[in-house]
Amino acid sequence: MIKPSGPLHGTVRAGGAKNSALKLMAACLLSEGRHVLSNVPRIKDVEIMADLLRATGARVERSRPGASATSATSAAPAAPAAPDAPADLVVDVPRELVPVAPYELVEQMRASVVLLGPLLARCGEARFSLPGGDDFGSRPIDIHLGAFEAMGASFEVVHGYIEAKVGDTRGRRQNLAGTKVVLEYPSHTATDNVLMAAARAKGTTVIENAAREPEVVDLARFLSSMGARIKGAGTSRIEVEGVEELLPSSHRVIPDRVVAATYLAAVGLAGGEVVVEDAHVEHMDMLLRKLGEMGMVVSLGPEGLRARSDGRLHSVDLATLPYPGVATDYKPFLVTMLAVADGVGIVTENLFAGRFRYVEELRRMGADISTEGHHAVVRGVPRLSGAPVKAPDLRGGAALVLAGLAAEGETVVSGAEHVERGYEDLAGKLSALGASVIRR
Ligand code: EPU
Repeated sequence: MIKPSGPLHGTVRAGGAKNSALKLMAACLLSEGRHVLSNVPRIKDVEIMADLLRATGARVERSRPGASATSATSAAPAAPAAPDAPADLVVDVPRELVPVAPYELVEQMRASVVLLGPLLARCGEARFSLPGGDDFGSRPIDIHLGAFEAMGASFEVVHGYIEAKVGDTRGRRQNLAGTKVVLEYPSHTATDNVLMAAARAKGTTVIENAAREPEVVDLARFLSSMGARIKGAGTSRIEVEGVEELLPSSHRVIPDRVVAATYLAAVGLAGGEVVVEDAHVEHMDMLLRKLGEMGMVVSLGPEGLRARSDGRLHSVDLATLPYPGVATDYKPFLVTMLAVADGVGIVTENLFAGRFRYVEELRRMGADISTEGHHAVVRGVPRLSGAPVKAPDLRGGAALVLAGLAAEGETVVSGAEHVERGYEDLAGKLSALGASVIRR
């Protein structure tokens, strides 16, 4: 439940990036042994990925920060961790894996598909339920499958599962083979998937039209620390020279740019001055430019990204694009800000056809938004009015919480479990900044 709030004041941490942590966890399967990931957010999607890893035979546990990195024979005790410091995630991967991703887990999270690359690379086969996840339009995995086919895998759909194999015509098991993979679209998770598989394929893989997201670069860094040979991550052409063996490693997850953006948008809507202490400003260029055009003052200081907003926001036009464009994940927050801004903003969604579902809920709160296919016209109103609304998906749900900050009366967002897929205690963190948000 959210009541009109503001101005907000204080400091908040974005925490580790969901869309990096999930891929790093999958990447652990590429090597037997004990991996340690730090700054892994405590969110539902991480729990689902941990269960998926367990289903393959891995052990996944949280430990005190720093404690897991200390060797068992070390005499020095680990320094006490700050009470709110995120625990390390320790992933112990056995020599033999069970190459299965079960329906009960995959249907809860579309990102499960990133296990396909590591399982094929490690086991030469995988039994994989077709993915589910956010409900915003058709989200096929043809680009993933096409890339693995080019690397020598074949697929069959049997009883709702994809049965994947890498073998010759006589059915003898083989390794994935490095080759040139041209992605039809710079799909984020397809790039992650091929990158992981290529790290242990035979020969060199070149990924053309690769996604350039910071989380892809984070994954490449982790893989390189395991011994992978990767060039060009962060550009549209990634070259991976496959190696026979990778070694377990440790890695700190980069901060979540979408969570950081959520807190910046909260300031835009409620006013005030807030510091997001772990935001990576270089990952958020286009967003910061848009927030500036809307009238927010955002600057980088020694303590982090400082955002200030007073008075009414101005409308802007925007279009989502793959990184470094304005991320589709930011759009629900930006549309919510436009809903109360001065003027008219035209928003174009270029990635996911159905990603305007939260708009119907914003309309129930008095927003003046019309949509036509990939476009939305948002006419700003002075104030929204609180209402019971339903979170349609993760980012849409977070946007409705933010909308409640700028609405008269009470807003109750149902389906809050969608929001918990990607946010660590959003209600608690907004409350700590002075907002009136309660998780019931
Ligand atoms: N697409 C295909 N075929 C494929 C793969 C993608 O047609 O095989 C299409 C999709 O249907 C969509 C477009 O390509 O229209 C973009 O999809 P992409 O594959 O890039 O998205 P994704 O990898 O499935 C990741 C994030 C999303 C984020 C998008 C776009 C993860 C786990 N998910 O999804 O994050 O919106 O990239 O940047 O990394 C979220 O965090 O809430 C979230 C949905």
